[in-house]
Amino acid sequence: MMDVLRSIAQIRQRLERERRHNARIALVPTMGALHEGHLALVDAARRRADVVVMSVFVNPLQFGPNEDLARYPRDLPRDQALAEGRGVDLLFAPEAGEMYRGDGGTRVIAGDAATRWEGAIRPGHFDGVLTVVAKLFHIIEPDVAIFGQKDIQQVTLIRSMVRDLDCPVELEIVATVREPDGLAMSSRNVYLSATERGDALVLSRALDAAQAATRRGETGAERIRGIIEAAFAAVPAVRPDYIAIVDPDRLAPVDTVRPGTIVAVAARVGATRLIDNAIL
Ligand code: PAJ
Repeated sequence: MMDVLRSIAQIRQRLERERRHNARIALVPTMGALHEGHLALVDAARRRADVVVMSVFVNPLQFGPNEDLARYPRDLPRDQALAEGRGVDLLFAPEAGEMYRGDGGTRVIAGDAATRWEGAIRPGHFDGVLTVVAKLFHIIEPDVAIFGQKDIQQVTLIRSMVRDLDCPVELEIVATVREPDGLAMSSRNVYLSATERGDALVLSRALDAAQAATRRGETGAERIRGIIEAAFAAVPAVRPDYIAIVDPDRLAPVDTVRPGTIVAVAARVGATRLIDNAIL
């Protein structure tokens, strides 16, 4: 039986009990609207710990003024059923007023890599992400926390925060879970119309083309960019925001790709922004 806890005091009390029995605790942070990608993180958490905590919290701090905070999909009963079915032990689902009390002015400031790519288009987004992740680390005190490669810049910045602030937690990163046709699973996919859903395949198709080129021996970042741009040009309804060919530590552009180089893309499909990436 999974317990749902709505307050910080409740979850702390519950976890204190688990810790007295020397249980290893894993945390899977989410914003809900669960899909198979989130549930793959739960599987990884199960392998790593005795007690799996999932948080479901649509974090207002990481949404910009013109973003989709108000219409972000929310369905706690559905999330509850999916989480329980996959083996989550404790679901932490606080209200915004529980997480942000007082004047709420204190923030974690993300490192340099936050000024690029997603961070350039969504100012303050990663400070909001790191602030809530740091709060969750303090509330849950997990031994291990699980994140998805789908949000690769988020992973890079969380890894830096853990190192820079000496957070006593291990991180595990789970590969991106995709629909059968290749589209990376995302809570935002529900915004896509049938036509947009088809057009959205260009993201994974472009990344596949880049992977195929490197397997043929291509190492020039500019030539790989050309291959990705050509894939996008075939679907004019999808407008890329950026095509990043970068090193995995600083997310700085590279000239020559090597194993581990990241290709990350973001694009607008109608009113919806989608991101995807591949590790070459
Ligand atoms: P959310 O978008 O709900 O994603 C929660 C976790 O699921 C993240 O670690 C994300 O990378 C992972 N995830 C999403 N789609 C995935 C997929 N297709 N395959 C594998 N993993 C996937 O990311 C956030 O929420 C928030 O920023 C959060 C970290 C919870 C802080 O608010």
